Amino acid sequence: MKMDHEAAGLAQVIAGDTAISTVGKEGKGLTYRGYAIEDLAQEASFEEVAYLLIEGKLPTKSDLKKYQDTLKADQAVPDPILKILNELPKLADPMDVLRSACSVLGVIEPENKSHNTNNANNAKQIASRLIPFSASALLYWYLSNFAKVKQIETGENSIAGHFLHLLHDKAPTEEARRALDVSLILYAEHEFNASTFAARVCTSTGSDFYSAIVAAIATLRGPLHGGANEAAMKLIESFKSPDEAEAGILERLQRHDLIMGFGHRVYKDHDPRSNIIKAWANKLAREPKQVVMLSIAERIEKVMWQEKHLFPNLDFYSALVYHFLNIPTFLFTPIFVISRISGWSAHIVEQRENNKLIRPLANYIGPDLLPYLPIEERKG
Ligand code: ACO
Repeated sequence: MKMDHEAAGLAQVIAGDTAISTVGKEGKGLTYRGYAIEDLAQEASFEEVAYLLIEGKLPTKSDLKKYQDTLKADQAVPDPILKILNELPKLADPMDVLRSACSVLGVIEPENKSHNTNNANNAKQIASRLIPFSASALLYWYLSNFAKVKQIETGENSIAGHFLHLLHDKAPTEEARRALDVSLILYAEHEFNASTFAARVCTSTGSDFYSAIVAAIATLRGPLHGGANEAAMKLIESFKSPDEAEAGILERLQRHDLIMGFGHRVYKDHDPRSNIIKAWANKLAREPKQVVMLSIAERIEKVMWQEKHLFPNLDFYSALVYHFLNIPTFLFTPIFVISRISGWSAHIVEQRENNKLIRPLANYIGPDLLPYLPIEERKG
């Protein structure tokens, strides 16, 4: 007998212990290492949050300065990878580019890990290398295809600043820097989501750090997971007015289409990250065209709640924030990667600390035992 649909997606299944985050837990909500997401998004920088996730505690002033210097020093992309990036098609999916760049870095700067050992220091060094590296590699590929690459290292001491500086070839405003910084904080970690779980499964076999990150990027790529922010942007842009959006959404719901950027496996009536990022979309919407887009998004939100009791997840209003920051839509999901490397890395280190091969059982629904027929006796 087939499993029911819920059980097939491991919904409600507790698949392991973690001390990294809570998602929608009663009395806690979304926390990273015990700190509420609301406080982190209000007070911290992404670098503080990445340090918190990977090291397990908030940095002191000098820890943070050291960490920022490390991230700055790790912005470089090795020459062989620049050569490969130059050869990749202009119309490649940026997620494929990022996945490939991280994979090749694992060949050039491999993890110093002998079988069955957990060299946590080296793992943490790779984690902090991969965050700025992924921003540099992605934007080098993008700029060499679509604009001019002037330099790959910006000297910016924040990941948000580095990304925006490279993309727009000038230092961003403080407001733009902080808007992206907050979105990186919100995207950094989310317990046993699909990509993190993929990283943990890969890690559980004793594989290396880069392989686990590559598995996670490959998993995040799908539209039901990270890819939803790009789909949400395309949806919002497809309407010219809130009324048109309402009619369009009702029509799509009638056809049982999925509306990207809505719903969540764990949250049942709201995503705590959504209001934080929506406030930034409100703050950044200044031009008349942007104000219209925001009102289209708000109408979609209203209709989704009325019709389906579904609420926007982080991806919906993040899409608008990125759009208002002049980030091309096809770079939205890669930004999710740059941020989530911090959470994935924390999980890889945690999985190794108390490793057990992740190997569940399957519910068999195939045929009963069949007699083996010689090839001459088989019918088409
Ligand atoms: N649009 C329309 N209907 C939806 C949506 C949606 N976005 N989400 C759920 N539903 C409906 C389903 O069709 C289903 O209806 P039914 O019972 O009539 O068949 C019901 O709500 C339950 O949905 P499931 O797919 O069973 O819920 P599940 O927990 O498996 O899915 C998921 C969660 C994948 C996030 C889903 O809500 C979805 O596909 N959303 C759109 C994609 C998206 O935004 N992903 C981003 C996730 S958050 C992140 O990665 C940061």
